[in-house]
Amino acid sequence: MKVAVFSTKPYDEQFLAQANDDSHQHELVFLEPRLNTTTSALAKGFDAVCVFVNDQVDGAVLGQLAEGGTRAVALRCAGFNNIDLKAAERLGIDVVRVPAYSPYAVAEHTVALILTLNRQIHRAYHRIRDGNFALDGLLGFDLRGRTVGVVGTGQIGLEVVRIMRGFGCRVLCYDLHTNPEAQQLGGEYVALDDLFSQADIVSLHCPLTPDTHHLINADAVAKMKQGVMLINTSRGAMVDTAAIIEGLKSGQIGYLGLDVYEEEGDLFFEDLSNIVLKDDVFARLLTFPNVVITGHQAFFTRNALESIARTTLGNLTELESTGQCANRVTAPAG
Ligand code: NAI
Repeated sequence: MKVAVFSTKPYDEQFLAQANDDSHQHELVFLEPRLNTTTSALAKGFDAVCVFVNDQVDGAVLGQLAEGGTRAVALRCAGFNNIDLKAAERLGIDVVRVPAYSPYAVAEHTVALILTLNRQIHRAYHRIRDGNFALDGLLGFDLRGRTVGVVGTGQIGLEVVRIMRGFGCRVLCYDLHTNPEAQQLGGEYVALDDLFSQADIVSLHCPLTPDTHHLINADAVAKMKQGVMLINTSRGAMVDTAAIIEGLKSGQIGYLGLDVYEEEGDLFFEDLSNIVLKDDVFARLLTFPNVVITGHQAFFTRNALESIARTTLGNLTELESTGQCANRVTAPAG
């Protein structure tokens, strides 16, 4: 297939080109721009586009792609909240994704945020470089015996349960479906409000859907323990950022670790260090000493990129040869 790869970074090109050389014969054209209504013309005449989390794949863009002859959208990620699936179906465009690549990468990054915040590694790093060896303000707590609430116990959530059980934590789980593996690991399923009221650490691992949009709002924050640690490595819009800022100001939230942000599309994956930051909400988050933010890098391990490239190209090969794909995403009925 002739594939226009949007939002290409050097590492995307490296891993996709390698996987294509190893096992596929697609014609890959790597494009730096993000896919949107202005750039969709670049895909004219291409059988497929390959996109990432912040590409705009709404009805307007899909309409333009269909007019240009594009018949498939290959997501090189798991989440598909940026795609208008109904429009894709109407236009006869297949959407395929990478449902699993390395849940370990995201789960381990989640735990990196937990440990960084708890033991204040982000602050210690700067202190030591500045010749400040004082410990005041760096006091942490033992994870052993603490209660961790895992919201969403699919592939990533399950790995978080496994790791936190290894630390000796009590793990409370909430999901629409019980995962027996999480239970075997000692995870206890409870109602969401009970998870909020009992957990010392709340970590989010659900997809972004209308039901999970702003799942963490002012009401949810009020139900949590005073000084709770909140971690979001799923999707930014699961958290109402304004409510979180109020929670940080009042001390209700004691620690915040984010790998995703509601408005990350304007910021993440780019070097903006020479540009004035215009997002006042994000700027406010950066002022708190107990907030650690990474720029959607939880997935970013060598193993995950190899796996993403392999599956993405495999999805396109499968579509090309059979017209079907096991990793096809369809709009929910109704
Ligand atoms: P998964 O599909 O294996 O698990 C998601 C779980 O969430 C399922 O068990 C599902 O039943 C549950 N769920 C869905 N709606 C729910 C609701 N309303 N309330 C409670 N639970 C609900 O997905 P996986 O692979 O574990 O990924 C989870 C999310 O992590 C992805 O949707 C994606 O948004 C995010 N992600 C972030 C990455 C990063 O680099 N920061 C990388 C990969 C995924």
